[in-house]
Amino acid sequence: MKKILVTGGLGFIGSHTVVELQNEGFEVLIIDNLSNSTIEVLDKITSITNKKPSYFNIDLKDKVAVQQFFKENNVDGVIHFAASKAVGESVEKPLEYYENNIGTLVYLLQEMKANKVSNFIFSSSCTVYGQADELPITENAPVKPAESPYGNTKKIGEEIIKDTTKISKINAIALRYFNPIGAHESAKIGELPIGVPQNLIPFVTQTAAGIRKELSIFGSDYPTIDGTAVRDYIHVVDLAKAHIIALSRLLNYKNKTSFEVFNIGTGKGNSVLEVIQSFEKVTGKKLNYKLVERREGDITAAYADTTIANTELGWKAECTLDEALLSAWKWQETL
Ligand code: UFG
Repeated sequence: MKKILVTGGLGFIGSHTVVELQNEGFEVLIIDNLSNSTIEVLDKITSITNKKPSYFNIDLKDKVAVQQFFKENNVDGVIHFAASKAVGESVEKPLEYYENNIGTLVYLLQEMKANKVSNFIFSSSCTVYGQADELPITENAPVKPAESPYGNTKKIGEEIIKDTTKISKINAIALRYFNPIGAHESAKIGELPIGVPQNLIPFVTQTAAGIRKELSIFGSDYPTIDGTAVRDYIHVVDLAKAHIIALSRLLNYKNKTSFEVFNIGTGKGNSVLEVIQSFEKVTGKKLNYKLVERREGDITAAYADTTIANTELGWKAECTLDEALLSAWKWQETL
């Protein structure tokens, strides 16, 4: 049985990926410092899969602890989710973001190299494309200067990994996620935003639940179908499955180069108003919203060309926007 380290394995995408890994027969070791997650998620994963993953409360900034972990545990691969991810906060605290997202990545890669662990999957983001000149966005679209320190950590992270694969036996795949949403069908795990949600879907579900009074739609004068911004919303379970496929590609020596990148999205763009219409349709809830000014730093439209993920990985998003939004709502109802 292959042993896989999942950093940030109690977080939103991490927890769903741990479930899929265990379902596929992998042995999972989680490192998570609970900075944006709770220990209860471990029990929830266990109740979904009937198998408890090993858990290590390690902060990846603690280099000695990371060294110790690799000394004591022989893993076959690493899926690296642990990172800070709030765009606005990263503008306020750039050094924390660079230390947390870049410093820890360097430690991990150093230990992988030293301990001859050769398979690495990295959480990247479509943020590396900025506002792409052409839609849908292919992997060949130019990487643009980052809009935020957070976005820069993804861009620099990819560069660090690429450079490392050139001088070591490490093979890596960066998955560039579009907008992950939704929750596991069991409604036992999902997204747990701390405080006021910055992302659209948690704000929508909290508004429908009466926790927030009203959703503000940021911008209604974009050059899009209805004036609101367009994104590619991908169900988190589809996204989790992409990680298992990417990992298996490396474990089975199917990668074509030592560093590969894949877009992980549905290939379909939806406007904010379309998301609201879909949410209202599947839940039967009426949503309070108002149109306000654009949010600084937001782009007009982003959706993926997933041809390469489809053909090379043999992966394709299966869930519809309706299904993803319904799962997000079912999860919200449990909170
Ligand atoms: N939006 C609203 N109201 C809200 C929240 C969001 O109208 O209360 C709009 C945004 O303006 C945007 C869309 O909903 O048009 C999606 O916003 P999100 O914040 O959910 O997602 P973003 O596309 O802005 O951000 C996501 C990830 C980031 C990543 C970024 C890069 O959350 O981590 O994509 O593309 F950096």
